[in-house]
Amino acid sequence: MSLMKKLIVVLAGLILIVWGMFFFMNRQPQTPEPVDQIPIDEPDTGEIEAPVVADDSTLPIPPLLEDTDPSPDRAEFRIIAQNGIKEFVPGVQTDTMGYNGNYLGPVIRTRRGEDVAINIENRINGEMTTIHWHGLEVGGEDDGGPHSGIQPGETWTPEFTIDQPAATLWYHPHPEYNTGRQVYKGLAGLFIVDDEVSDSLDIPKDYGVNDIPLVIQDKRFREDGSFEYILSGPDIIFGLQGNAIIVNGEIEPYLNVEKGLMRFRILNGSNASIFELRLDNNQSFHQIASDGGFLEEPVEMNRLLLGPSERAEILIDFSDYEDGERVRLANQDWNFMEFVVDGDRENDLSVPVSLAEIDRINPQDASRIREFVFLGMGPSVNINGKQFDIDRIDEVVSLGDTEIWEVSNQTGMGMMGGTIHPFHAHGTQFQILDRDGNPPPANETGWKDSFIVYPGETVRAIATFKKPGVFMYHCHILEHEDAGMMGQFLVE
Ligand code: C2O
Ligand code: CU
Ligand code: CU
Repeated sequence: MSLMKKLIVVLAGLILIVWGMFFFMNRQPQTPEPVDQIPIDEPDTGEIEAPVVADDSTLPIPPLLEDTDPSPDRAEFRIIAQNGIKEFVPGVQTDTMGYNGNYLGPVIRTRRGEDVAINIENRINGEMTTIHWHGLEVGGEDDGGPHSGIQPGETWTPEFTIDQPAATLWYHPHPEYNTGRQVYKGLAGLFIVDDEVSDSLDIPKDYGVNDIPLVIQDKRFREDGSFEYILSGPDIIFGLQGNAIIVNGEIEPYLNVEKGLMRFRILNGSNASIFELRLDNNQSFHQIASDGGFLEEPVEMNRLLLGPSERAEILIDFSDYEDGERVRLANQDWNFMEFVVDGDRENDLSVPVSLAEIDRINPQDASRIREFVFLGMGPSVNINGKQFDIDRIDEVVSLGDTEIWEVSNQTGMGMMGGTIHPFHAHGTQFQILDRDGNPPPANETGWKDSFIVYPGETVRAIATFKKPGVFMYHCHILEHEDAGMMGQFLVE
């Protein structure tokens, strides 16, 4: 080997080692860690960077969006994407974005079988946006991906029929390169589907009273109580993680709850953080629904893992508490929300034994297995060696076909250490077959449109592709998606 070649080899080795060291030094846990624990009752004004909680921070309940069509079989909604200003910390204003308001959006509530038209007007200053119905089974034209840009001042009106079981879905922007920032600024809302099953179940159903939406997000507040979307080196690798958790747009709120069974529709609306939710007294609760609808039966648990974009409906029983007793909801050991039991409001509902029937898709019916491999790191994140190209269709699926999608995370191979990637595909709901060959946990046996894939892991999921058009599949860490960890499939 010539001296020159030797030098190049040694140099390359050195660069790799330094890069590796940088990587490990900057490694962050994948669930956010508070700068300091903030006790909810006695805010510590000491040296914390995260903002202090106001005592009167009650949980805001997003309003249900008005359906302006009087006919029972058709719904028409109006949404305005706009800039906003919000005081997360009293006296400090932050530039935000919201739907029909300053931050987040109203809940769109529909029924299975209903025809829905939604007028979305973009009033954001000088910025293109799109609006994607995450989890909804509609054609590619109406799906709101990066092809459906709405220029400032324009209105887009998709129309579709709701054709899937009752579920808690959500909507958010999906413009190329700019999804992370627009979601972080506040563009997101819930989309609820009802059906005969959800009507007939004897569970809490009184929206805002005992049926409560919780959009959980982390934000990185500056000391003055404002936040900005600015990515550091580690953010590009791990996605942006915050130093405060907000629920429905409020920092560490509290909620008065009925002495009885309460239902929570939880969305992890974070850009990148995975939450491990629990009650601070370790009381167990029951998960009754996953991303795409009810489970077959309630799953008892005391820890709920939720990746970015995943949803879970849970029932918490407060009937054994005293009037005024407090229980906290935590991410690992970080309490971020408080329930206060209101003895004047009681219900005697109990956790149902069974919930919904789910038709199991038979793996024998799959026409093929399609492989997706998460690779790369930071700016080089990709799927199957390719970064997103809006002019390239990566996969073609025959309309009506059933396929097994085998998603593996090989970002942990070699010396660099891996990162978790939540896989999501548009336009359909999956059933998870196995994780590394083992059956999935009980709360992942229902309909799923997003699932976490750990470094080195392979997840197999099955779906029938019933809607035609161009759809996205991607990592739902929004910084990874924006960096190109996304591809397109055409169903035809
Ligand atoms: Cu939540 Cu491509 O979407
Ligand atoms: Cu989606
Ligand atoms: Cu990722």
